[in-house]
Amino acid sequence: MKKFYITTPIYYVNDEPHIGHAYTTILADVLSRYHREAGDEVFFLTGTDEHGQKVSQAASERGVEPKKHCDEMVIRFQNMWKKLHIENDHFIRTTDKDHQEVVKEILQQIYDSGDIYFDEYTGLYCVGCERFYTEKELVDEKCPQHQESLKEIKETNYFFRMSKYQQQLIDYINEHPEFILPKTRRNEVLGFLRQPLGDLCISRPKSRLSWGIELPFDSDYVTYVWFDALLNYVSGIGAKKDDKQFAKWWPADYHLIGKDILTTHCVYWPTMLFAAGIPQPRTIFAHGWWLSDEFKMSKSLGNVIKPLDLIDRYGVDPVRYFLMRDMVLGQDSNFSPDGFALRYNSDLANDLGNLVGRISTLVRRHFDGKIPEPGEQSREETQLVESGSTLAVEAIELIHEMKMNDAVETVMEYVRSINRYMEKLMPWKLIKSDKAAAGTVLYHAAESLRIALQLLHPIMPVRTAKILGMIGASVTELKSPWGQLKSGSKLSEFEVPFPRIELNQKTKQAKE
Ligand code: ME8
Ligand code: MG
Repeated sequence: MKKFYITTPIYYVNDEPHIGHAYTTILADVLSRYHREAGDEVFFLTGTDEHGQKVSQAASERGVEPKKHCDEMVIRFQNMWKKLHIENDHFIRTTDKDHQEVVKEILQQIYDSGDIYFDEYTGLYCVGCERFYTEKELVDEKCPQHQESLKEIKETNYFFRMSKYQQQLIDYINEHPEFILPKTRRNEVLGFLRQPLGDLCISRPKSRLSWGIELPFDSDYVTYVWFDALLNYVSGIGAKKDDKQFAKWWPADYHLIGKDILTTHCVYWPTMLFAAGIPQPRTIFAHGWWLSDEFKMSKSLGNVIKPLDLIDRYGVDPVRYFLMRDMVLGQDSNFSPDGFALRYNSDLANDLGNLVGRISTLVRRHFDGKIPEPGEQSREETQLVESGSTLAVEAIELIHEMKMNDAVETVMEYVRSINRYMEKLMPWKLIKSDKAAAGTVLYHAAESLRIALQLLHPIMPVRTAKILGMIGASVTELKSPWGQLKSGSKLSEFEVPFPRIELNQKTKQAKE
């Protein structure tokens, strides 16, 4: 049995979960399900990042203790993931006792080996990013992420000798083409590493900020949030606590991240691992951003898409489908309600929904609601069987290449070919002249649809299971061979699986 360990970023507990957070988490869930359904053993980790200035400020504004504040906020993420059918194996919070102990242990280890030192520091600090910036990183003298002027802060602090590992990191990236993906991001990191790499300030004096993990070697300081947060990827699977569990899952197969946190994951994190003597993850994969009206979503722009609004209107699985189908992994995508509705209507309501409806209606009307016996195959059937038999291999290969949208499109193209097959052989006419032949067509259409639905199951786990029942089948393993659908098996009650979304007039015209 192969193992598969996948992580998402741990999200800032303060934020209200939006479609961007949902996207990374759904992607991790979909990949986990593909691996599970292919027989692999999977560990899927997500969680929340709960220390730092923003959290302590928000808590004090509400007049509650930071921990209590986090306990109240974290529920929004946990509930959202439940709603979105996310099946993570563990939910880590950086305020967990186990996690804090691991952070302290690793800090102490790196301190003892001489890679952490004490020094005075002056820098430009952005509270939004929880990090210092150098002059040359600024855009118009402002933080590139938050477009705010930064305050100069001077203090004594602890530093991690990140610079010491610069060449080792460059060599590692060059020798491991799969380490940072997609390639554009890998080149971006290598470009960044062409400049001399500084050391990393990894502490905050408690006099300025007390909401963090105390340094094990100096109780006047807490750990810088990123040094704390990144370690969740190892503490979440028992590093320093449960050697057996850790050895089983580490190294991670995928750290999924958005391109906004590339440097922290592809420079800070690997050098921390070098210093701690822990092997590198296999792949750090940075996807692009979901834009809303062509802008990155942010609270201050007021263009945040809330997953709940969409789920309440269209259901969870269509939202999962849209996100997987409409983003080319690595690139940015624009989210618009009209784009969602068009995709939903064409793929789900028409291509998939109509096919289910046709098969179900004919089988119930003419075959007593039971899957008919297939007769001899004509050329059309042989073709369907052939492409159906290689479909899983093709789709899974695309998924392994992280071409999720192409994988979905490949399956949907097969669905469209089943529709064309039905149009061509017209079982609704055939039934009058040759019932057995009509039965053969319906069997082949249903069995082909079953194969397609099985491959969409990781993306739409609830709806596909339901539809499988409507054609007398049930969920099996991903690569089940042709012929699983048994003649005589009874169809469950039909219910329109994807009711059409009524488009407003403007969108309709644009489409025509
Ligand atoms: O950065 N499109 O947390 P965060 C796509 N706590 N993905 C998006 C997105 C968008 N518009 N907006 C957010 C942090 N994301 C740190 C991480 S990890 C050790 C610490 C997703 O709450 C994407 O995965 O700001 C992005 O990297 C992440 O949310 C940032 O979440
Ligand atoms: Mg962010």
